[in-house]
Amino acid sequence: MKILLLGASGYVGGALWRGLSPHHTVVGTCSQRTVPGLVKVDLRDEAALSALVGQGFDLVIHAAGLVDLASAEAQPALAHALNVHSVQVLLTAVRHTRTKILLLSSDNVFDGTGDVYTEEDPRAPVNVYGRTKCAAEDVLLSHGGGHLVVRIPLVYGRSPWADRFMARFSAAVTRAQTDVVCAPLYLPSLAPALEELWDHRGLLHVAGAEVVTRYELMSGVAEALRLPTRVVPVRNDDVFTSPRRPERLVLRSVHHGFLGPDVETALADMAKAKGSTEETP
Ligand SMILES: NC(=O)c1ccc[n+]([C@@H]2O[C@H](COP(=O)([O-])OP(=O)(O)OC[C@H]3O[C@@H](n4cnc5c(N)ncnc54)[C@H](OP(=O)(O)O)[C@@H]3O)[C@@H](O)[C@H]2O)c1
Repeated sequence: MKILLLGASGYVGGALWRGLSPHHTVVGTCSQRTVPGLVKVDLRDEAALSALVGQGFDLVIHAAGLVDLASAEAQPALAHALNVHSVQVLLTAVRHTRTKILLLSSDNVFDGTGDVYTEEDPRAPVNVYGRTKCAAEDVLLSHGGGHLVVRIPLVYGRSPWADRFMARFSAAVTRAQTDVVCAPLYLPSLAPALEELWDHRGLLHVAGAEVVTRYELMSGVAEALRLPTRVVPVRNDDVFTSPRRPERLVLRSVHHGFLGPDVETALADMAKAKGSTEETP
């Protein structure tokens, strides 16, 4: 497959780059972060983006945009330009081709009041980021064609260039919510999941097997990797007052049986990878 990976310099994109490059011809993009081997493109440069997309790819994976909740809340126009309008540009660029678009979306399209969310549940975003992801899904899916939206939950694990998740442990104290619950996805399992599922069209949820609190996940990671931080339990409302973060986001699929590994298996894999890195001179 010839794949264009938008956002290959990011946290999720970097792991997809690492997972897909051995099996496919992958052209990855970066923006602010310069990564050797990646092509620099700004999603707002419509001419450059269209020219790149028009280079005969089988698949365009859109993993770029404004993802940080607080940044999206503070800059809604920028969030819309990067997360929503870019999808329209991609659609226009591929309209006379066989190129398929796979858009990564988020569990933040839901409000967190449901027990479990499948692809059939109605969306109700509570923050700007979630609203842009809903709008982006609508742009892609209302177009018809064979395009695909893949919603993912919180992802965890290492990534080559932008270790967003591991950066959360950089302080001496790491706060983690006991009342925020999800089925987090181990990041290295996303590339094989997409390979298994990208022939689908429409909307899919992809998540991990186990339902845990943020506190359980973060303390598990800190313990398994022996990180020099103390993970302390907090309540969501006590520390994350704005923007609103949905508290229970458990994604499940009615269309496929893929589930990422449980947390214990994933942490064993992370610890093993850390051990082998430490042994390398
Ligand atoms: N992380 C999660 O837990 C999570 C959960 C659910 C869904 N998702 C979805 O996964 C996707 C990737 O998220 P992430 O966590 O990997 O985010 P990230 O680490 O912030 O990466 C964002 C990517 O977008 C690129 N980008 C930002 N502004 C750009 C611009 N103006 N033009 C071109 N590229 C630009 C960044 O490039 P530079 O860094 O080079 O500037 C980077 O490659 C998003 O669609 C997000 O909604 C993530």
